[in-house]
Amino acid sequence: MAPNARNNVLLVGGSSGVGLATAKLALTALPGTNIVLSSSNKERLEKAVQELKSAAPSEESIIDFVVGDVSNISTQFNDVEAILKAANSIFNGKIDHIIWTAGSFPHPPQGDGPKEPSNDDLLSVSTTRLFGPLTLTHLGKKYMTNSRKSSITTSSGVLVYRPRPGIARGIGLLGGLDSATRGLAVDLAPIRANFVVLGPIKTPLLEKFASSEAAMKHMAEGSLLKAVGEADEAAEAYLASMRCSYMTGSRIDCDGGALLV
Ligand SMILES: NC(=O)c1ccc[n+]([C@@H]2O[C@H](COP(=O)([O-])OP(=O)(O)OC[C@H]3O[C@@H](n4cnc5c(N)ncnc54)[C@H](OP(=O)(O)O)[C@@H]3O)[C@@H](O)[C@H]2O)c1
Repeated sequence: MAPNARNNVLLVGGSSGVGLATAKLALTALPGTNIVLSSSNKERLEKAVQELKSAAPSEESIIDFVVGDVSNISTQFNDVEAILKAANSIFNGKIDHIIWTAGSFPHPPQGDGPKEPSNDDLLSVSTTRLFGPLTLTHLGKKYMTNSRKSSITTSSGVLVYRPRPGIARGIGLLGGLDSATRGLAVDLAPIRANFVVLGPIKTPLLEKFASSEAAMKHMAEGSLLKAVGEADEAAEAYLASMRCSYMTGSRIDCDGGALLV
């Protein structure tokens, strides 16, 4: 391990689920990791930072948070820039990796009334999950280390590639992340950009949407491995994107083989 290796990792959507699991894994798997978590909720961030600090292998790691809501289309550019600036200031240096897991599902949880999302719901979800990463195209170079060791990793889902009835409007928007990530890779090179396609991963988000045991079982049955994934398994996919300095513009599937069933 290089004595002065440093990995300043910003996780937008890091207070929960896959983002928090990735922060935890990075702290133990990548030398010199410092973490800034960002999400819209201060209390959740404080709790997540405490959880990371108690699991961190070294007391020297910086582990901190920045509050920021990235779901408003008209203010997003400034909101994301404020998060990047604050992260630079906390790290006292540039960001090496950005993991973008902020977001939700475009459709309401099961049993929560009408299933059809409004255009406002769709706009809010795609502002967070699609426009957010696009905003990094404009801002990334200024706030990140300009090296192929640096990376941006964003998040998509298997339903974009394997639609089921009634979700065309949601996935029609979110599918844009595929070409957006390749565009990011071209615009930001040598900084790399990849995205992870998630199958059902057991997180607070999935538990809200599939609240019964039967719903979880149904999700598991939809994968080749007949299982719902764990957040720490998904975290490995994000680590691959961070670590492999010759991977850019790539789609990484972490779906238990759901795309093959
Ligand atoms: N879990 C799955 O099965 C699955 C499958 C396919 C795709 N995905 C996608 O993968 C990503 C991660 O999912 P997850 O399961 O880890 O979800 P999660 O546990 O709910 O985590 C989502 C994170 O995003 C943050 N967030 C949500 N809205 C935000 C906003 N407006 N501004 C800033 N941060 C915001 C949340 O924090 P706050 O609420 O505190 O803001 C939280 O930290 C999501 O985009 C999700 O749609 C997940």
